[in-house]
Amino acid sequence: MTELVTTRAALAAVLAGAPGRVGVVMTMGALHEGHASLMRAARKECDFVVATIFVNPLQFGPHEDLARYPRTMEEDRAIAGEQGVHVIFAPSVEEMYPGGEPGVTVHPGPLGSELEGAVRPGHFAGVLTVVLKLLHIIQPDAAYFGEKDYQQLTLIRQMVRDLSLDVEIVGIPTVREPDGLALSSRNRYLSAPQREQALALSRALRAGAAEHNPDAVLGKAREQLEGLSVDYLELRDPQLDEAKSGPARLLVAARVGTTRLIDNTAVELS
Ligand code: PAJ
Repeated sequence: MTELVTTRAALAAVLAGAPGRVGVVMTMGALHEGHASLMRAARKECDFVVATIFVNPLQFGPHEDLARYPRTMEEDRAIAGEQGVHVIFAPSVEEMYPGGEPGVTVHPGPLGSELEGAVRPGHFAGVLTVVLKLLHIIQPDAAYFGEKDYQQLTLIRQMVRDLSLDVEIVGIPTVREPDGLALSSRNRYLSAPQREQALALSRALRAGAAEHNPDAVLGKAREQLEGLSVDYLELRDPQLDEAKSGPARLLVAARVGTTRLIDNTAVELS
């Protein structure tokens, strides 16, 4: 059974004996095969792997799903154990934010208020603040994040560059169901008919990625999203600046019932 610690002091004691290269996989729990693939990558490249499980209140808006976010610690522990994770750090909110809601936070810059940030104000300040804190507490050599949350991954890379953090950020491709649906902890909110509707996101990305002209990419993708409540469908460059020719990223967010889903894919523009 993977060791579970809930305090910084207990984690420091475990890390004091950790050999060689240390990798971290940060999560909010409700673990699935997407999280497991991050853990496997970390295990392959590192001698010691820490997984964190913390549902970070700072990154949820007032009307979002903080209270109902799935909490499945026993199953999570089993999944982390199967992947060879050495220790789980699952702090309480008080342990992470001993002074209550922090006054000092990380400002994500302009990209923080675009795409996801336009719909979820304050979200990326909350994400970057907790990621920075966890990097500081754990001091890993490498940290593993999914391309599923492409804007999050991009902002974490920017934070590491802009704040001169000494950690390697590794991006891991999105794990999907056989029918294309990107795995997400929030998929468990979907009813069977809603799950069918949710398939439109990955279908739209596949249809878009088959094209190479920007208008065609967006047009073909949009066709697949008809009837869904779409927050955005955008084509950007790999750093999420304006798309030029060459490698690009197609990103989508839509609501199915009350559940918000996001997905993205690589596109080659000519
Ligand atoms: P969470 O949504 O639990 O995701 C944890 C990590 O798993 C993220 O890096 C995310 O991109 C990755 N992930 C989720 N679904 C994936 C999939 N289908 N394939 C590959 N990777 C996937 O993202 C967060 O938590 C939080 O914002 C966090 C970074 C932990 C900060 O609180």
